[in-house]
Amino acid sequence: MDRIRVTGGNELNGVIPISGAKNAALPLMIASLLTDDTLTLENVPHLADVEQLIRILGNHGVDYSVTGRRQQQDVGYSRTVHFTARNIVDTTAPYELVSKMRASFWVIGPLLARTGEAKVSLPGGCAIGTRPVDLFISGLKALGAEIEIENGYVHASAPNRLRGARFIFPKVSVGATHVMLMAACLADGETVIENAAMEPEVVNLSSCLNAMGARIKGAGTPTITISGVTSLSGARHRVIPDRIETGTYAMAVAMTGGDVLLDGAKAKLLAAALEAIARTGVEISEESGGVRVRRNGGVISPVDVATAPFPGFPTDLQAQFMALMTRANGTSHITETIFENRFMHVQELARLGARISLSGQTAIVEGVSELEGAPVMATDLRASVSLVIAALAAKGETIINRVYHLDRGFERLEDKLARCGADITRISD
Ligand code: EPZ
Repeated sequence: MDRIRVTGGNELNGVIPISGAKNAALPLMIASLLTDDTLTLENVPHLADVEQLIRILGNHGVDYSVTGRRQQQDVGYSRTVHFTARNIVDTTAPYELVSKMRASFWVIGPLLARTGEAKVSLPGGCAIGTRPVDLFISGLKALGAEIEIENGYVHASAPNRLRGARFIFPKVSVGATHVMLMAACLADGETVIENAAMEPEVVNLSSCLNAMGARIKGAGTPTITISGVTSLSGARHRVIPDRIETGTYAMAVAMTGGDVLLDGAKAKLLAAALEAIARTGVEISEESGGVRVRRNGGVISPVDVATAPFPGFPTDLQAQFMALMTRANGTSHITETIFENRFMHVQELARLGARISLSGQTAIVEGVSELEGAPVMATDLRASVSLVIAALAAKGETIINRVYHLDRGFERLEDKLARCGADITRISD
């Protein structure tokens, strides 16, 4: 199993290209199930989660082909992928596949809308919390689906087409909003979703669906209106830049000091996070090609944050921000409001010398003047990358185990950081 070795202490200087967003690419790929035409997605990141979803979609009958890597860049950077679901050959998403990636549960929406049935394994627990599917089920039931849960599978059927309805989400859910959008596109009549997720990935999916012939209004606001159509066509659509990758590298620069252009990043996709990072003492400016982050000396100021649905501070940047705060000049409070168990990185950061205590859903981080390298490992993607950020500033060598978590969501992480001066290498056993 690969590991990553980091020797801390180097500033970061240069350019980091920002990849297409994992969490935008996944629902867009799933949307290809809605049409028998080809859906072409540009800027699809080369990640383990994308490869896994390609396998899952293949099981339902989706063919794919790859073209057009970004010019002048090595193999392995974002590319253009064509997805064609000419025939849906299987409406079952089995446990063996769904248990590997929660987002694959989302196939339930398009399979049901296009074929009138879907049988999808419950995704089960996950390292960051229980993550139930009740919101998906009540949303699809509101559209007229009959749903039964049996032997760990959700059976959904709507032999006479889904029908439009008004549905109010009791809680904001990104995934359930994606699924309702995809299902309602092909429903009979108008659907109104209230308290919808406003994340940029929802807006990206909605504009792709509209390019495919759907009639969706209001994505990016709490109320989305969808007028159902009878079929969708193919389209060509671009995956938005990854706001979590952007925030992660911005925090890496905040940690080490230096001057980096995050090429292709869009500041408006992560305004709350950039504002918090700026308050730590970093200069952030929007430039034509991306976002520039600079810190020349000076201390890291402590800043309190609480995660929230978009446009709030993203839960997917919470672990990285905590890593940054471990070296702040004072005490900060980091509150997690989305997932009940997303502090798995605390113990590992402590191995590097961080001083963090937990009080319910709040981590109290007392900044230290120096972290020290150590062997560490993490149990999820964002927690793993928080260890990389801490390691970049730690004295001596840190070995990060279980790199496959990083490969799920960060395209060529060590390559991007090394080109900016970090002492980071992958060790393949
Ligand atoms: C998406 O997960 C992202 N995943 C997550 O990123 C991200 O952390 C999360 O949104 C929140 O922003 C992808 O886009 C692939 P939710 P999702 O449904 O859709 C509860 C990463 O690291 N809930 O918005 O699964 C749920 O338990 C990943 O890239 C219910 O109670 O998240 C959570 O507390 C991790 N019932 C809250 O809602 C339901 O039926 C928000 O979850 C569904 C969700």
